[in-house]
Parts: sequence; structure tokens; C-alpha cells
Amino acid sequence: MKKKVRTAVFPAAGLGTRFLPATKVIPKEMLALVDKPIIQYGVEEAIESGIEHVIIITGRGKGAMEDHFDHSFELDATLERRGKTELLEVSRHVATMARISYVRQKEPLGLGHAVLCAKELVGDEPFAVILPDDVIDAEVPCLKQMIDVFNEREGSVIATQTVEGPAISAYGVLAGSPDPKNPRIFNCTGMVEKPKLEDAPSKQAIIGRYVLTPRIFELLETTTPGAGGEIQLTDGIKALLKEEKVYGYTFEGKRFDAGDKFGMLQATVEFALKRPEFGEKFREYLKSLPL
Ligand code: G1P
Repeated sequence: MKKKVRTAVFPAAGLGTRFLPATKVIPKEMLALVDKPIIQYGVEEAIESGIEHVIIITGRGKGAMEDHFDHSFELDATLERRGKTELLEVSRHVATMARISYVRQKEPLGLGHAVLCAKELVGDEPFAVILPDDVIDAEVPCLKQMIDVFNEREGSVIATQTVEGPAISAYGVLAGSPDPKNPRIFNCTGMVEKPKLEDAPSKQAIIGRYVLTPRIFELLETTTPGAGGEIQLTDGIKALLKEEKVYGYTFEGKRFDAGDKFGMLQATVEFALKRPEFGEKFREYLKSLPL
């Protein structure tokens, strides 16, 4: 019988240097997008996609994430005493929304190594990877769309989007060709991490969502350091490609790079505009600015 995708791995051990000084003490995954830490958007997406177990790969100084997804007795007791029922509900919801396990990545050896840290907890079944920096606004959660493709095609699935020009060098890039039956699917024949523009095999950039078969773990064990001297997930998947089908998937939705200052600003404006409590007020405010 086919195994269900039940687990999502969240690599969250990175230093977040792109967002200094804010990330000197605060984990980048805990930076607020409107009023929620960015990692919570990813965890909510995972749950809405049918994920039952979340594994967060953490590192030194990342304890705030564990506290965030735990009960806060002083806060809850105070809210209860003051009769702040709605806020109490918000606080309790965060603590109970998911079954979460934490694994420490003791050395910053790269994204591939971070995913490998989840091997024992995931076991012998397919799983998802969500990079919390990539916040995706979509009607159908991006991961759900990908799990549907995984179940239908029975091969690993990587989220992609078209990136024009030199910006492609910030991504993993797929080689291959569009599927004749479904233009959203890309039949992958290779991939390269952060190529120079002239070496990029296509405009299909990898975005931080993956559905992978467990074979990737064994392959990551023998993956040697690649781009930036790090063990790259892209290189592990490239090895997987030699044995199994791997598909790129152009998801429906909009992705924001919330680990980047400008990307976070874009996400903040767009998410704030959608909020029923103050979206209209915010729109009026933006319109009033002498732009
Ligand atoms: C990682 C992956 C890269 C992917 C990117 C998407 O890079 O290694 O293949 O395109 O995420 O956000 P990072 O941004 O962590 O350097």
C-alpha cells in the first residue's frame, strides 16, 4: 500500500544573517509577519495539508521557537484572570496546533545535512520539507497541491517558480522539460544549486517546499559538500533523480522570501491588506502617502 505523507521537516537552524541586526538574538523564524512568527505560517500550511507530525531542526539560540509552540502558563493564567477569552484562545491554539518534535543540528553543515538530521524521526516513509523563510499565500495550501501530485505521480515533487535574469543564481535550478499533459509539472532530468546565470539549465527555480521519498536520507549520507561548501539538499535530490522520478511543480499561489528584508516588507503589506480587522484602514493609509 502507498504510504501517506504524514511528516513535515522544517529546517530552522540557520543563522539568519540576511536579517541582521534583528536576528542577532531572535531566530529569523520568529520574526513577525503582521502578528505571527513566519514559522507559524509554515506550520499552519502543513496542518492544512494533512500533516500530522512536524519536525523542527533547530540550533543554538533557537529556543524561542520551542517556547512559542508550548503553553505559557503565566500568560494564559493572566489572560484568564482578566477575562481576555479571545487572546487566551489565540495563545492556547498555538500551543496545541501541532505535534512537534525538535532535533538539534549541532553544526551548520548545510540544508541537506539539516534534513538528514530528521532521518530517525521520519522513518521509512515519504515526507515533506518546508523552508520557513518561504511564506506562500495560496487558496489551496502549496504543500497540499504538491502532496496531490506526489500521490498521483508516485515520485518526489519540488515546488518551483519561474525566475528571470541574474536573480536565478540565488536558487537551486531544475533541468528538464514541461510535462506534455500538465503544464504545471516539469519532468526533471537534473538540477544545480545556485548556478551562475550562464550555467542555469532553465528558469525553473526551486522554492522551499519538497515532498520526498525516504531514499533521500541514504543519499544525503554520502552527499559531499557542494555550493558554498555546504551539504546541499539539491545535490541529494540530484542523486535521487538517477534512481526515481522527480518532478518540479509550479504551484498556484504567491511566494514571499520572508527571510529577506525586502521580501518581508512585501509580505507585510500584502498580508496586512488582507486582514479583515484593519485591511481597509491600512489601504486608506497607504493611499494617503505621498508616493
Ligand atoms: C535553499 C535551497 C535552494 C532553494 C532556496 C529556496 O537555498 O538550497 O535550492 O532555491 O532555498 O528558498 P537558501 O535560500 O537556503 O540559500
